[in-house]
Amino acid sequence: MPPKYRNVTFETLPIQKDNPTAYGFLKAYRGNVVENARNGIGLFFYSIPNNSNKFGTGTGKTTSAVAILHAYLLERVKEDSTGGQKIDQNPALFYKASELQTLYNAQFRGTPDMQEKASLRYYKIKKLLMSAEMVVLDDVGIRQKITDAFENELTEIIDSRDSKVLMTIYTSNLPIDKLAETLGERIASRIEGMTEQVAFVGKDHRRGGVLK
Ligand SMILES: Nc1ncnc2c1ncn2[C@@H]1O[C@H](COP(=O)(O)OP(=O)(O)O)[C@@H](O)[C@H]1O
Ligand SMILES: [Mg+2]
Repeated sequence: MPPKYRNVTFETLPIQKDNPTAYGFLKAYRGNVVENARNGIGLFFYSIPNNSNKFGTGTGKTTSAVAILHAYLLERVKEDSTGGQKIDQNPALFYKASELQTLYNAQFRGTPDMQEKASLRYYKIKKLLMSAEMVVLDDVGIRQKITDAFENELTEIIDSRDSKVLMTIYTSNLPIDKLAETLGERIASRIEGMTEQVAFVGKDHRRGGVLK
């Protein structure tokens, strides 16, 4: 988890005023978070840009994703410690999509030793991304068109999660119908099929705040 979001909880989620609909939906989701996750009900958080916020950043998408992830972890630890389903591997993982692509690319850059290290790390992360009970894939589709090789990787990860009915939260500064331009049609349609879409509006709260 990036340090900036480490202390985010649902109780202090700041989105209610700007995004009452999203807040209400997430509150209901969180009320039954373990069951919703086990049913594989994924979430797609996206921004609707406007004139005062052209890229739709800083509207609380990542914060909301982390709040759901933390709520889930809390419930799972309770379950585990009260005789319910055991936690046998890292149950949740947060990954920025661009960092995953950078890590993937690192396997093909630098000295053989560097490539081998990157490869080991990438396959460790990939395995977790394919099997963790909950995954947040942050900021998907923001770079230019992804490479065919990385598109295959992402498709494999998403398909694995889909077939195991594992829940994924995606955040994006683009609505789903624009995602195909960067992620390709295959991935965009899979994400659409696996998630409930939640729109975020409002000004960019990254600006002028203490947290940058
Ligand atoms: N509606 C809001 N009201 C107040 N602060 C907000 C709101 N939405 C986001 N923030 C704050 O703005 C910062 C950026 O939020 P973040 O979740 O990273 O935005 P996004 O992922 O949509 O770009 C965080 O510090 C967050 O707490
Ligand atoms: Mg974000």
